[in-house]
Amino acid sequence: MVHPVTPEISDLEQIADDQWQSLAVAARDRHHAWHTPTVANVGEGIAQLRTVVLRSADPVTRVLTCHSDSRAPKITQLSKDPRCSWHFYDRDAKIQLRAYGNAWTHQGDALARQRWQDGAWRSAQCYRTPLAPGEPCTEEDLDIDAPVDPATGEEHFVVLACEIDLLDWLFLRVEGHRRARLSWKQGRWQGEWIAP
Ligand SMILES: Cc1cc2nc3c(=O)[nH]c(=O)nc-3n(C[C@H](O)[C@H](O)[C@H](O)COP(=O)(O)O)c2cc1C
Repeated sequence: MVHPVTPEISDLEQIADDQWQSLAVAARDRHHAWHTPTVANVGEGIAQLRTVVLRSADPVTRVLTCHSDSRAPKITQLSKDPRCSWHFYDRDAKIQLRAYGNAWTHQGDALARQRWQDGAWRSAQCYRTPLAPGEPCTEEDLDIDAPVDPATGEEHFVVLACEIDLLDWLFLRVEGHRRARLSWKQGRWQGEWIAP
């Protein structure tokens, strides 16, 4: 039997689906406003924020990924407290999306190996330096003139993955802003309108 759904619930589920479609497009399109989100975690007692490149967004598994260096402070912090937030803002679409979930890393496994071979090695100059991200150094230490070799740097390469279970969607409109909280519960996105 098909249960009738209220228009509100139906609309909110559609909003959740639409956001995941936009995220999937943003991961593939480097010109998309959501291609470079801010990722946050709590570390050393304060909100830690940084820009990353969104590498994948899977509407089915609800997993977002970016690539990173296993030596980066965020990786250590997230291993202690995996709570993670992502902030996306599209100025033209007038949409802010915040996504909340728990993070983990893939290092040296099938996924990390695949991403490395698929091209991560090309943009992974940082993974080849002996310096951990955030480590004090001289300016000369930062000049890397060795040719890029796909065989190096992989030992520091990680895929940071985050399973999302809460979305906060804000749509700015002249006729009145709209904001919704979308929670993954009992196998589906359940939404409620909240004040912008
Ligand atoms: C446009 C842009 C894209 C970036 N992409 C990534 C990324 O995909 N992964 C990453 O670890 N750092 C990326 N960074 C660097 C981070 O913002 C940050 O400086 C670095 O990861 C160290 O962060 P942490 O000290 O919090 O670990 C990017 C920076 C910019 C400006």
